[in-house]
Amino acid sequence: MISNEMARRINAQINREIYSAYFYLALAAQAESMNLKGTGAWFVAKHGEELSHAMKMYRYLIDQDASVRLTEVAAPPTEGGNLFQMFERTLAHEREVTSAINDMVDHALSEKDHATSIFLQWFVTEQIEEEATVKDILGRLRLFGDQGQALLMIDNELAAIAAQMARGTTGTQAATNG
Ligand code: FEO
Repeated sequence: MISNEMARRINAQINREIYSAYFYLALAAQAESMNLKGTGAWFVAKHGEELSHAMKMYRYLIDQDASVRLTEVAAPPTEGGNLFQMFERTLAHEREVTSAINDMVDHALSEKDHATSIFLQWFVTEQIEEEATVKDILGRLRLFGDQGQALLMIDNELAAIAAQMARGTTGTQAATNG
């Protein structure tokens, strides 16, 4: 059993995770409109990951006998911009998510809610990985630029990563179904 306040915060995070999925889907559509198929696939894979984060929280609330309260999800931004700007927005977004997760951990600890604190550790680790991945992509864009052959190279790399992520998702689903 968790407190009503802890449940409220987890419900708010479910909304943020679904918003994140929406945020990435908008970027996927933008990338596809720029003919960056690999980048589009990468953002679609991120969309799927974010939905799975929301579902982890959904399942935790149910396992803890707490109510799932779904609220309205905001529309994602429609700003355009080049590939570099798209990934800068991605990093800024993930940093906001990290901050929200950290606030939740602080709150769980303040309540001595060890179960939720342990549950949230997965998300703390995930945020480190997500920020590092985006910083790496931004570093490569800074190094090689986002035009011509460099753009094609990065788009191909993102396609390969997206394919790996898709295989990972399939594996998780198979494990869950099994
Ligand atoms: Fe669910 Fe990208 O954090």
